[in-house]
Amino acid sequence: MREWHAAAQESAGMMVLPVKRRILIVDDFPTNRRVLREMLRELGHEVIEAKSTTEALSLISRDVVDLALVDLLAPGVGGPALCCILRNHSATQSIPIILITDTPDAENEAIGIAAGADDFLVRPMRTKVLRARVQSVLCRKSVLDSMDEAETVLFSLAQSVEARDPALGQHCQRLALLSSTLGVAMGFSAPDLIALHRGGYLHDVGKVGVPDRILFKPGRLTEEEWRVMKQHTVRGEQICGGMKSLKSVLPIIRHHHERWDGSGYPDGLRREEIPLLVRVLQIADIFDGLTRERPYKPAYTAEHALQIIQEETAAGWRDPMVVEAFMDVFPLFSNGDLTSRSSLQALALSLQEQNGWRVEESAETAAPFQHAPISEAM
Ligand SMILES: [Fe+2]
Repeated sequence: MREWHAAAQESAGMMVLPVKRRILIVDDFPTNRRVLREMLRELGHEVIEAKSTTEALSLISRDVVDLALVDLLAPGVGGPALCCILRNHSATQSIPIILITDTPDAENEAIGIAAGADDFLVRPMRTKVLRARVQSVLCRKSVLDSMDEAETVLFSLAQSVEARDPALGQHCQRLALLSSTLGVAMGFSAPDLIALHRGGYLHDVGKVGVPDRILFKPGRLTEEEWRVMKQHTVRGEQICGGMKSLKSVLPIIRHHHERWDGSGYPDGLRREEIPLLVRVLQIADIFDGLTRERPYKPAYTAEHALQIIQEETAAGWRDPMVVEAFMDVFPLFSNGDLTSRSSLQALALSLQEQNGWRVEESAETAAPFQHAPISEAM
Protein backbone atom coordinates (compact mmCIF):
# COMPACT_ATOMS: atom_id res chain seq x y z
CA MET A 1 0.00 0.00 0.00
CA ARG A 2 1.30 3.43 -0.92
CA GLU A 3 2.61 5.59 1.90
CA TRP A 4 0.07 8.36 1.35
CA HIS A 5 -2.72 5.87 1.07
CA ALA A 6 -1.79 4.23 4.33
CA ALA A 7 -1.55 7.58 6.05
CA ALA A 8 -4.88 8.68 4.67
CA GLN A 9 -6.54 5.44 5.74
CA GLU A 10 -5.07 5.77 9.19
CA SER A 11 -6.22 9.34 9.41
CA ALA A 12 -9.62 8.86 7.93
CA GLY A 13 -10.62 5.41 9.11
CA MET A 14 -12.25 2.63 7.14
CA MET A 15 -14.47 3.14 4.16
CA VAL A 16 -18.18 3.26 4.90
CA LEU A 17 -20.51 1.17 2.78
CA PRO A 18 -23.26 3.02 0.99
CA VAL A 19 -26.81 3.34 2.18
CA LYS A 20 -29.05 1.52 -0.24
CA ARG A 21 -31.28 3.86 -2.23
CA ARG A 22 -34.56 3.09 -3.96
CA ILE A 23 -34.73 3.86 -7.67
CA LEU A 24 -38.02 3.83 -9.56
CA ILE A 25 -38.03 3.00 -13.27
CA VAL A 26 -41.14 4.20 -15.14
CA ASP A 27 -41.44 2.63 -18.58
CA ASP A 28 -44.07 0.48 -20.29
CA PHE A 29 -41.51 -1.56 -22.27
CA PRO A 30 -40.27 -4.58 -20.27
CA THR A 31 -37.03 -4.64 -22.27
CA ASN A 32 -36.24 -1.03 -21.38
CA ARG A 33 -36.90 -1.73 -17.70
CA ARG A 34 -34.77 -4.86 -17.76
CA VAL A 35 -31.84 -3.11 -19.47
CA LEU A 36 -31.91 -0.27 -16.96
CA ARG A 37 -32.11 -2.69 -14.05
CA GLU A 38 -29.08 -4.59 -15.39
CA MET A 39 -27.07 -1.41 -15.91
CA LEU A 40 -27.81 -0.27 -12.35
CA ARG A 41 -27.20 -3.62 -10.70
CA GLU A 42 -23.57 -2.93 -9.74
CA LEU A 43 -24.52 0.19 -7.80
CA GLY A 44 -26.35 -1.97 -5.29
CA HIS A 45 -29.49 0.13 -5.00
CA GLU A 46 -33.01 -1.25 -4.78
CA VAL A 47 -34.85 -0.92 -8.09
CA ILE A 48 -38.64 -0.88 -8.37
CA GLU A 49 -40.68 -0.61 -11.56
CA ALA A 50 -43.86 1.02 -12.81
CA LYS A 51 -45.43 0.54 -16.24
CA SER A 52 -47.19 3.93 -16.26
CA THR A 53 -47.14 7.32 -14.57
CA THR A 54 -50.33 6.34 -12.71
CA GLU A 55 -48.63 3.28 -11.25
CA ALA A 56 -45.57 5.41 -10.50
CA LEU A 57 -47.61 7.93 -8.50
CA SER A 58 -49.24 5.09 -6.61
CA LEU A 59 -45.83 3.62 -5.70
CA ILE A 60 -44.42 7.01 -4.72
CA SER A 61 -47.39 7.63 -2.43
CA ARG A 62 -46.64 4.39 -0.58
CA ASP A 63 -42.83 4.09 -0.63
CA VAL A 64 -39.84 6.37 -0.29
CA VAL A 65 -38.32 6.88 -3.74
CA ASP A 66 -34.86 8.43 -3.99
CA LEU A 67 -34.68 8.75 -7.76
CA ALA A 68 -37.08 8.26 -10.69
CA LEU A 69 -35.89 7.22 -14.14
CA VAL A 70 -38.86 8.08 -16.36
CA ASP A 71 -39.42 7.36 -20.02
CA LEU A 72 -40.36 10.56 -21.82
CA LEU A 73 -43.44 8.89 -23.30
CA ALA A 74 -44.45 6.84 -20.28
CA PRO A 75 -48.14 5.86 -20.54
CA GLY A 76 -50.50 8.00 -18.53
CA VAL A 77 -49.62 11.66 -18.43
CA GLY A 78 -46.08 11.24 -19.86
CA GLY A 79 -42.71 12.02 -18.35
CA PRO A 80 -42.75 15.84 -18.32
CA ALA A 81 -46.23 16.00 -16.76
CA LEU A 82 -45.15 13.50 -14.11
CA CYS A 83 -42.24 15.85 -13.33
CA CYS A 84 -44.69 18.73 -12.90
CA ILE A 85 -46.91 16.71 -10.58
CA LEU A 86 -44.00 15.63 -8.38
CA ARG A 87 -42.49 19.12 -8.29
CA ASN A 88 -45.81 20.67 -7.24
CA HIS A 89 -46.23 18.59 -4.08
CA SER A 90 -44.09 19.26 -1.06
CA ALA A 91 -43.76 15.57 -0.23
CA THR A 92 -42.35 14.70 -3.64
CA GLN A 93 -40.73 17.89 -4.91
CA SER A 94 -37.20 16.86 -3.93
CA ILE A 95 -37.26 13.48 -5.71
CA PRO A 96 -34.63 13.64 -8.46
CA ILE A 97 -35.96 12.78 -11.92
CA ILE A 98 -34.02 11.68 -14.98
CA LEU A 99 -36.02 11.62 -18.20
CA ILE A 100 -35.07 9.07 -20.84
CA THR A 101 -35.94 9.05 -24.52
CA ASP A 102 -35.09 7.13 -27.67
CA THR A 103 -34.65 10.14 -29.90
CA PRO A 104 -32.42 13.15 -29.27
CA ASP A 105 -34.65 16.17 -29.51
CA ALA A 106 -33.65 19.55 -28.10
CA GLU A 107 -37.27 20.67 -27.79
CA ASN A 108 -38.28 17.62 -25.77
CA GLU A 109 -35.19 18.02 -23.61
CA ALA A 110 -36.04 21.66 -22.96
CA ILE A 111 -39.63 20.74 -22.07
CA GLY A 112 -38.43 18.03 -19.70
CA ILE A 113 -35.91 20.26 -17.94
CA ALA A 114 -38.48 23.07 -17.73
CA ALA A 115 -40.91 20.61 -16.14
CA GLY A 116 -38.38 19.96 -13.41
CA ALA A 117 -36.29 17.01 -14.61
CA ASP A 118 -32.78 16.94 -13.20
CA ASP A 119 -31.23 15.30 -16.22
CA PHE A 120 -32.07 13.98 -19.67
CA LEU A 121 -30.62 10.85 -21.26
CA VAL A 122 -30.93 9.40 -24.76
CA ARG A 123 -30.86 5.68 -25.55
CA PRO A 124 -28.67 3.81 -26.18
CA MET A 125 -26.91 4.82 -22.98
CA ARG A 126 -23.45 3.78 -21.92
CA THR A 127 -23.57 1.96 -18.62
CA LYS A 128 -20.82 4.10 -17.10
CA VAL A 129 -22.57 7.32 -18.05
CA LEU A 130 -25.92 6.17 -16.68
CA ARG A 131 -24.33 5.08 -13.41
CA ALA A 132 -22.45 8.36 -13.17
CA ARG A 133 -25.61 10.40 -13.70
CA VAL A 134 -27.53 8.29 -11.21
CA GLN A 135 -24.82 8.57 -8.56
CA SER A 136 -24.51 12.27 -9.22
CA VAL A 137 -28.16 13.06 -8.58
CA LEU A 138 -28.29 10.68 -5.62
CA CYS A 139 -25.24 12.38 -4.15
CA ARG A 140 -26.83 15.80 -4.55
CA LYS A 141 -30.06 14.57 -2.97
CA SER A 142 -28.13 13.02 -0.14
CA VAL A 143 -26.41 16.34 0.61
CA LEU A 144 -29.72 18.20 0.48
CA ASP A 145 -31.46 15.60 2.61
CA SER A 146 -28.78 15.87 5.26
CA MET A 147 -29.05 19.62 5.53
CA ASP A 148 -31.35 21.30 7.90
CA GLU A 149 -32.91 24.60 7.06
CA ALA A 150 -30.07 26.67 8.49
CA GLU A 151 -27.50 24.72 6.51
CA THR A 152 -29.48 25.30 3.35
CA VAL A 153 -29.34 29.03 4.07
CA LEU A 154 -25.56 28.84 4.53
CA PHE A 155 -25.05 26.98 1.27
CA SER A 156 -27.24 29.55 -0.46
CA LEU A 157 -25.12 32.28 1.10
CA ALA A 158 -21.95 30.59 -0.16
CA GLN A 159 -23.40 30.37 -3.64
CA SER A 160 -24.38 34.03 -3.54
CA VAL A 161 -20.76 34.87 -2.65
CA GLU A 162 -19.59 32.88 -5.65
CA ALA A 163 -22.21 34.53 -7.86
CA ARG A 164 -20.67 37.95 -7.07
CA ASP A 165 -17.67 36.96 -9.18
CA PRO A 166 -18.68 35.72 -12.63
CA ALA A 167 -15.06 34.74 -13.31
CA LEU A 168 -15.33 31.92 -10.79
CA GLY A 169 -18.04 30.16 -12.79
CA GLN A 170 -19.06 27.17 -10.72
CA HIS A 171 -15.80 26.99 -8.82
CA CYS A 172 -17.39 25.82 -5.56
CA GLN A 173 -19.28 23.05 -7.27
CA ARG A 174 -16.17 21.88 -9.12
CA LEU A 175 -14.05 22.15 -6.00
CA ALA A 176 -16.55 20.08 -4.04
CA LEU A 177 -16.34 17.35 -6.66
CA LEU A 178 -12.60 17.55 -7.33
CA SER A 179 -11.63 17.46 -3.67
CA SER A 180 -14.03 14.68 -2.77
CA THR A 181 -12.82 12.74 -5.81
CA LEU A 182 -9.22 13.11 -4.64
CA GLY A 183 -10.49 12.03 -1.23
CA VAL A 184 -11.97 8.90 -2.80
CA ALA A 185 -8.60 8.17 -4.41
CA MET A 186 -6.92 8.54 -1.00
CA GLY A 187 -9.35 6.15 0.63
CA PHE A 188 -11.11 8.63 2.90
CA SER A 189 -14.16 7.68 4.91
CA ALA A 190 -17.60 8.78 3.77
CA PRO A 191 -17.89 11.40 6.56
CA ASP A 192 -14.56 12.90 5.44
CA LEU A 193 -15.69 12.90 1.82
CA ILE A 194 -18.85 14.71 2.84
CA ALA A 195 -16.76 17.24 4.79
CA LEU A 196 -14.62 17.83 1.68
CA HIS A 197 -17.70 18.16 -0.47
CA ARG A 198 -19.27 20.69 1.89
CA GLY A 199 -15.94 22.46 2.35
CA GLY A 200 -15.79 22.97 -1.40
CA TYR A 201 -19.00 24.95 -1.21
CA LEU A 202 -18.42 26.74 2.09
CA HIS A 203 -14.67 27.47 2.25
CA ASP A 204 -15.04 31.07 1.07
CA VAL A 205 -18.41 31.87 2.66
CA GLY A 206 -16.63 34.46 4.84
CA LYS A 207 -16.09 36.60 1.74
CA VAL A 208 -19.64 37.78 2.23
CA GLY A 209 -18.03 40.34 4.55
CA VAL A 210 -15.36 41.50 2.09
CA PRO A 211 -16.34 44.68 0.21
CA ASP A 212 -16.46 44.52 -3.59
CA ARG A 213 -13.85 47.29 -3.84
CA ILE A 214 -11.37 44.92 -2.20
CA LEU A 215 -12.61 41.60 -3.59
CA PHE A 216 -12.49 42.81 -7.19
CA LYS A 217 -9.64 45.29 -7.00
CA PRO A 218 -7.61 44.74 -10.16
CA GLY A 219 -4.31 45.91 -8.73
CA ARG A 220 -2.31 45.01 -5.68
CA LEU A 221 -4.06 45.24 -2.32
CA THR A 222 -2.84 47.70 0.28
CA GLU A 223 -1.74 46.34 3.62
CA GLU A 224 -5.08 47.28 5.19
CA GLU A 225 -7.07 45.78 2.29
CA TRP A 226 -5.06 42.60 2.54
CA ARG A 227 -5.81 42.43 6.28
CA VAL A 228 -9.55 42.67 5.53
CA MET A 229 -9.28 40.02 2.80
CA LYS A 230 -7.50 37.57 5.07
CA GLN A 231 -10.32 37.84 7.60
CA HIS A 232 -12.63 35.87 5.32
CA THR A 233 -11.25 32.63 6.75
CA VAL A 234 -12.02 33.54 10.36
CA ARG A 235 -15.31 35.19 9.47
CA GLY A 236 -16.39 32.08 7.56
CA GLU A 237 -15.62 29.93 10.56
CA GLN A 238 -17.70 32.27 12.73
CA ILE A 239 -20.63 32.17 10.31
CA CYS A 240 -20.72 28.36 10.26
CA GLY A 241 -19.48 27.83 13.80
CA GLY A 242 -22.89 27.63 15.40
CA MET A 243 -23.87 24.52 13.50
CA LYS A 244 -23.01 21.15 14.97
CA SER A 245 -23.46 19.44 11.62
CA LEU A 246 -20.72 21.61 10.07
CA LYS A 247 -18.16 20.94 12.78
CA SER A 248 -15.98 18.84 10.49
CA VAL A 249 -16.01 21.57 7.85
CA LEU A 250 -14.82 24.37 10.14
CA PRO A 251 -11.08 23.52 9.89
CA ILE A 252 -11.38 23.62 6.09
CA ILE A 253 -13.00 27.05 6.22
CA ARG A 254 -10.50 28.49 8.69
CA HIS A 255 -7.31 26.96 7.38
CA HIS A 256 -7.67 26.74 3.61
CA HIS A 257 -4.97 29.41 3.17
CA GLU A 258 -2.37 27.89 5.45
CA ARG A 259 0.83 26.73 3.77
CA TRP A 260 2.93 23.65 4.39
CA ASP A 261 5.94 25.83 5.33
CA GLY A 262 3.93 27.92 7.81
CA SER A 263 3.79 31.06 5.67
CA GLY A 264 0.00 31.00 5.21
CA TYR A 265 -2.85 32.46 7.25
CA PRO A 266 -4.71 32.96 9.57
CA ASP A 267 -2.72 30.92 12.10
CA GLY A 268 0.56 30.19 10.34
CA LEU A 269 0.07 26.45 10.82
CA ARG A 270 2.77 24.31 9.30
CA ARG A 271 3.11 20.74 8.03
CA GLU A 272 0.82 18.24 9.79
CA GLU A 273 -0.61 20.99 11.98
CA ILE A 274 -2.72 21.73 8.92
CA PRO A 275 -5.57 19.17 8.90
CA LEU A 276 -5.26 16.57 6.13
CA LEU A 277 -8.66 17.44 4.68
CA VAL A 278 -7.49 21.02 4.30
CA ARG A 279 -4.32 19.97 2.48
CA VAL A 280 -6.38 17.85 0.10
CA LEU A 281 -8.87 20.61 -0.64
CA GLN A 282 -6.02 23.04 -1.29
CA ILE A 283 -4.58 20.93 -4.10
CA ALA A 284 -7.99 20.58 -5.72
CA ASP A 285 -8.53 24.34 -5.30
CA ILE A 286 -5.22 25.19 -6.93
CA PHE A 287 -5.76 22.76 -9.78
CA ASP A 288 -9.19 24.17 -10.54
CA GLY A 289 -7.94 27.74 -10.30
CA LEU A 290 -5.09 27.05 -12.69
CA THR A 291 -7.12 25.16 -15.28
CA ARG A 292 -9.82 27.84 -15.48
CA GLU A 293 -9.64 31.14 -17.28
CA ARG A 294 -9.49 34.17 -15.00
CA PRO A 295 -9.40 37.87 -15.86
CA TYR A 296 -5.68 37.96 -15.10
CA LYS A 297 -4.66 34.70 -16.80
CA PRO A 298 -5.70 32.12 -19.42
CA ALA A 299 -6.84 28.62 -18.57
CA TYR A 300 -3.70 26.51 -18.21
CA THR A 301 -3.57 22.95 -19.43
CA ALA A 302 -3.81 20.22 -16.81
CA GLU A 303 -0.14 19.40 -17.42
CA HIS A 304 0.91 23.03 -16.90
CA ALA A 305 -1.19 23.16 -13.72
CA LEU A 306 0.49 20.02 -12.42
CA GLN A 307 3.90 21.52 -13.16
CA ILE A 308 3.03 24.63 -11.14
CA ILE A 309 1.72 22.52 -8.25
CA GLN A 310 4.99 20.58 -8.28
CA GLU A 311 6.97 23.84 -8.29
CA GLU A 312 4.93 25.13 -5.36
CA THR A 313 5.59 21.86 -3.55
CA ALA A 314 9.32 22.18 -4.20
CA ALA A 315 9.08 25.72 -2.83
CA GLY A 316 7.69 24.28 0.39
CA TRP A 317 4.10 25.49 0.12
CA ARG A 318 2.29 22.19 -0.44
CA ASP A 319 2.18 18.82 1.27
CA PRO A 320 4.33 16.44 -0.82
CA MET A 321 2.28 13.41 0.28
CA VAL A 322 -1.00 14.88 -0.97
CA VAL A 323 0.66 16.06 -4.17
CA GLU A 324 1.99 12.54 -4.71
CA ALA A 325 -1.54 11.21 -4.27
CA PHE A 326 -2.77 13.81 -6.72
CA MET A 327 -0.12 12.78 -9.24
CA ASP A 328 -1.29 9.19 -8.96
CA VAL A 329 -4.77 10.13 -10.10
CA PHE A 330 -3.67 12.97 -12.37
CA PRO A 331 -4.09 10.98 -15.62
CA LEU A 332 -7.75 10.66 -14.75
CA PHE A 333 -8.06 14.30 -13.76
CA SER A 334 -6.39 15.43 -16.95
CA ASN A 335 -8.67 13.42 -19.23
CA GLY A 336 -12.04 14.77 -20.18
CA ASP A 337 -14.04 17.82 -19.36
CA LEU A 338 -13.40 18.79 -15.78
CA THR A 339 -16.21 21.31 -15.80
CA SER A 340 -18.81 18.60 -16.02
CA ARG A 341 -20.40 17.30 -12.85
CA SER A 342 -21.21 14.00 -14.50
CA SER A 343 -17.70 13.48 -15.84
CA LEU A 344 -16.27 14.11 -12.38
CA GLN A 345 -18.75 11.72 -10.89
CA ALA A 346 -17.75 9.21 -13.56
CA LEU A 347 -14.16 9.75 -12.50
CA ALA A 348 -15.04 9.05 -8.88
CA LEU A 349 -16.89 5.93 -9.93
CA SER A 350 -14.00 4.84 -12.07
CA LEU A 351 -11.61 5.21 -9.13
CA GLN A 352 -13.97 3.28 -6.92
CA GLU A 353 -14.27 0.49 -9.46
CA GLN A 354 -10.52 0.29 -10.01
CA ASN A 355 -9.84 0.05 -6.31
CA GLY A 356 -12.86 -1.97 -5.29
CA TRP A 357 -14.10 0.87 -3.11
CA ARG A 358 -17.71 1.68 -2.48
CA VAL A 359 -18.68 4.98 -0.99
CA GLU A 360 -21.99 6.62 -0.39
CA GLU A 361 -21.16 10.14 -1.33
CA SER A 362 -19.60 10.12 -2.95
CA ALA A 363 -9.63 30.39 -6.06
CA GLU A 364 -9.05 33.70 -6.83
CA THR A 365 -6.63 36.60 -7.40
CA ALA A 366 -3.13 35.59 -8.21
CA ALA A 367 0.16 37.34 -7.89
CA PRO A 368 3.08 36.37 -10.09
CA PHE A 369 4.41 32.96 -9.10
CA GLN A 370 7.78 34.31 -7.99
CA HIS A 371 6.00 36.35 -5.31
CA ALA A 372 3.22 34.00 -4.22
CA PRO A 373 1.51 30.78 -5.28
CA ILE A 374 -0.04 31.59 -8.62
CA SER A 375 -3.45 30.12 -7.93
CA GLU A 376 -3.63 30.67 -4.22
CA ALA A 377 -6.93 32.02 -3.10
CA MET A 378 -7.16 35.22 -1.18
FE1 LIG B 1 -10.32 31.70 0.36
